[in-house]
Amino acid sequence: MNDSVKKLTPRAITAMKGVEKIAALTAYDFQTARLLDDAGIPLILVGDSLGTTLLGYDNTLPVTLLDMLRHTAAVVRGVRRAVVVVDMPFMTYQASVEQALRNCGRAIQKTGCQAVKIEGGEFRAPAIEALVQNGIPVLGHIGLTPQSVKVLGHRVQGRDDEAARQLVADAQAVEAAGAFAVVLEAVPAELGAQVSAAVKIPVIGIGAGPGCDGQILVVNDALGLSGGFKPKFVKVYAELGRQISAAAAAYQADVAAGTYPGPEHCYE
Ligand code: KIV
Repeated sequence: MNDSVKKLTPRAITAMKGVEKIAALTAYDFQTARLLDDAGIPLILVGDSLGTTLLGYDNTLPVTLLDMLRHTAAVVRGVRRAVVVVDMPFMTYQASVEQALRNCGRAIQKTGCQAVKIEGGEFRAPAIEALVQNGIPVLGHIGLTPQSVKVLGHRVQGRDDEAARQLVADAQAVEAAGAFAVVLEAVPAELGAQVSAAVKIPVIGIGAGPGCDGQILVVNDALGLSGGFKPKFVKVYAELGRQISAAAAAYQADVAAGTYPGPEHCYE
């Protein structure tokens, strides 16, 4: 990596609206973060999706603040340019504005990342406002919010007029509270475009159609490392899962046949 790389800021991400579509990805470890950053990804989210992608839980609810701190610090160490955002896990900010301030402040201090992501629309505006006023940039998250899986399930959101109106109001409330951008998850494409047009901050869609100001994908999904159920919105850009299986099988065959290690792998 070259030393003259200029670090992006949350403010720079906001300024990308209407200029350039934002391609964001999740990352959970140092090496992947470094590769994504070198590839020019401007926003890297250390998602609490690490609960399912790395830790094998059924959903994100068991993820702890300590899990997030450790992985976010690793990602920060791998990144020179991208804005790194820590996804605040379940029940680390929902109880009160004071709890949100304490835990988000701790996450920023301990990891060196630039912003936090918290889920929720209009009703979450007081927490977003307090965080921003106290110097913590916030990425909002509305629509299908995975930490509410026990209430919302995995259903596409905003399908009727009332729900669609509420989502526009949520995006506007998150913007008014001071968020630098907002993730919009699992809504009809037409509503994704409508929400994006209703606010001045970037709307980063995941399953929200091409009318959003940017897109975000879980890196394991994009790289073919997830297996199992694949949501409709996922595009697989590499089949690393298949490559890993093939590599492991080839290694096993080499060891069984005695062809690894060869002379070139041995010390004199
Ligand atoms: O946890 C996560 O990876 C997320 C993205 C899907 C937006 O919240």
